[in-house]
Amino acid sequence: MTGLFITLEGPEGAGKSTNRDYLADRLRERGLEVVLTREPGGTPLAERIRDLLLAPSAEPMAVDTELLLMFAARAQHLAQVIRPALERGAVVLCDRFTDATYAYQGGGRGVPETRITELERFVQGELRPDLVLVFDLPVEVGLARAAARGRLDRFEQEGQGFFEGVRQAYLRRAQATPERYRIIDAAQPLAGVQRALDELLPQIVERIGGR
Ligand SMILES: Nc1ncnc2c1ncn2[C@@H]1O[C@H](COP(=O)(O)OP(=O)(O)OP(=O)(O)O)[C@@H](O)[C@H]1O
Ligand SMILES: [Mg+2]
Repeated sequence: MTGLFITLEGPEGAGKSTNRDYLADRLRERGLEVVLTREPGGTPLAERIRDLLLAPSAEPMAVDTELLLMFAARAQHLAQVIRPALERGAVVLCDRFTDATYAYQGGGRGVPETRITELERFVQGELRPDLVLVFDLPVEVGLARAAARGRLDRFEQEGQGFFEGVRQAYLRRAQATPERYRIIDAAQPLAGVQRALDELLPQIVERIGGR
């Protein structure tokens, strides 16, 4: 793989999508090919799985169904978008990836970490993000930003405890492998977040240049 795989993680309203677009602009200015994508989704078929995952429904979704649908969508996304892009040397900026599964299905729903690790190996083989940007903020701040946008999806309808579990799982993973993760204070004004991203740019450009 000659490209660079960067994922943006964090709860609802943390600023992942806003900052993914900002980072893409900065990298494109430097002449790099950037592929912007997201999970769950990223291909027409995977986006249909996303719809199943996010739509509130009368029939409760079993935890294992949710977990397997996440990885089913991921398998499709890897095959159609992520692996081909990395093979041709692009920078892939992906809004959520497997860290979100550890955070939401693991930290939020209580799925044992070992089960997620098994599926990660099965679906991804050795592929892991080169860099994970964790947009961290207090749960209430993120929920308020999400609520300001209107109708809540199936995850956004969860309570404070669920999102505390999500946040702690992200932070634990970042602390366990600090060389692959950057925790970004997403509660500060957007200009501060973008300054933090600007500081990361030289490292990103250098890493892709070395491949
Ligand atoms: N640092 C910030 N300070 C204040 N508002 C922000 C900041 N970053 C993003 N926002 C605003 O918060 C809202 C949510 O941002 P954004 O959609 O980028 O979050 P997200 O992490 O992609 O959320 P989701 O997971 O729900 O897609 C937007 O209205 C955005 O303009
Ligand atoms: Mg978003």
